[in-house]
Amino acid sequence: MKCRKCGSEAVINMRQHKLALCGEHFLEWVPEQTQRFIEKYKMFTPDERILVAVSGGKDSLSLWNVLLRLGYKADGMYIGLGIEGGVDYSNQSHEMCDKFLSNIKSQISNFKFQTSNSQLPQEGNSEIHDLKSEIGNRKSEINWQPTLRVVDIAKVYGETIPDVAARTTRGRGKPCSVCGLIKRHVMNRVARDGGYDVLATGHNLDDEVAVLFGNTLTWNSGYLLRQAPVLPADKPGLARKVKPFCRFYERETAAYALVRGIEYIYDECPFAEGSTSIAHKEILNQMEKDSPGVKLQFYLNFLRAREQGLFAEHAERVELNACEKCGQPTSAPGLCAFCRLWERRHRDTATTLLSKGTDVITNQ
Ligand code: AMP
Ligand code: FES
Ligand code: ZN
Ligand code: ZN
Repeated sequence: MKCRKCGSEAVINMRQHKLALCGEHFLEWVPEQTQRFIEKYKMFTPDERILVAVSGGKDSLSLWNVLLRLGYKADGMYIGLGIEGGVDYSNQSHEMCDKFLSNIKSQISNFKFQTSNSQLPQEGNSEIHDLKSEIGNRKSEINWQPTLRVVDIAKVYGETIPDVAARTTRGRGKPCSVCGLIKRHVMNRVARDGGYDVLATGHNLDDEVAVLFGNTLTWNSGYLLRQAPVLPADKPGLARKVKPFCRFYERETAAYALVRGIEYIYDECPFAEGSTSIAHKEILNQMEKDSPGVKLQFYLNFLRAREQGLFAEHAERVELNACEKCGQPTSAPGLCAFCRLWERRHRDTATTLLSKGTDVITNQ
C-alpha cells in the first residue's frame, strides 16, 4: 500500500476515506483534520484557554500533543482515581502524563535552543526560504508552555474511586458510574476555577458511536440530545465541553501516538472489562469490517438529525437547578449527585480543602 501524497510505503490505510498515508503525511493529516473539526463545530479560537483532560491513554495524550502543535493554549488535567486493578493502573496513567509533559517541554526548549543558535544562511542563498519557512512552521507548532494540573481524589476526599463505589448503591458493584460522576464534576470545577474557556476530552469516534448505539437501542432522547462534539456552557457553573477527536477512528489515534512516539498506557481501566460499551464496540467493529465507513456515517447522520431538531422537544422539558453546595447544575433542587456522594463522609475536610482550592497540584 502506497501513500497517496508521496508514493512511499503507507503506515495506515483508512478505508472509510479511501486514503492511505505514510508516517510523515499521516502526522500532517491528523492535525489538519483536527483543525478542520475545531473550526467546523466552532469549538474554540486560538485566544481561548483550553484544559485537556488527560487519562494517560493514546487519545487524550495525542489530543494534547496535536493542540499544542496547532498553537493552542492547552494545559492538561489528570484525575488520580486510585485504581490498582493488578496493573497499578492509576499510578501508571499518572506517570504517562508526567512523561508526556516533560517530553513536550524538552521539545520546546530544544527548539528554542536550535532557533537561537541556528546559523541562518546568508541572504541570497537559495536555501533561505526553505529554512525560514521551516523555522516558521516549527515555531507555530508549540508556542505555549503547558502545565499539568493533578487532582488526586483520595487525597482530596479521603477515598479512592473503588472505596466510594463500595459504599454506595450506584452502579451495582461496579465503580464506573461513580467514577464517571466524579470525573465529570472535577473536570468541570477545575476548568471553571482555573479560568479556562473550554474543557477538551479525547473521546474518539469509536467511543462516540458506542455511546450513540447504546442510547439509540433504548431511545434515550435526553442523552441523545446531549451527545455532540460541542456542549455549550449554557448553565451557570458549567464549562464548555469539546471533543476535537470525535471523528477519528480509534486506530487512527493509536497510530498517531505510535508514529509520533508518544508513550501511553496500553491497559484499559480494569473495571471496563465486560462492559456494555465494549460489547457494542465489538459489534460495531464487525459491521465496519463488512462495510467500511458505517461507523462514521452512523455518527455523522445522527449529528445532522440532531442539528435538524430531532430531539429538540425534549430539551425544553429538562430544567436544571444550581446545587446548593457546589453551584453545578443538577436536575433536582438541593444537592447535586456529586455532593450527595460525600455528604455523610468528612463533610468538613472536603469543604475546607475545596474552598481553599488546595486540591489541584500544578506541574509547571
Ligand atoms: P474514558 O471515559 O475512560 O473513555 O475517557 C474519555 C476521556 O475522558 C479521555 O479521553 C480523557 O479525555 C478523559 N479522562 C478519562 N479518564 C481521565 C482521568 N483519570 N483524568 C483526566 N481525564 C480523564
Ligand atoms: Fe473509572 Fe474505570 S476509569 S471505573
Ligand atoms: Zn507520504
Ligand atoms: Zn454539588
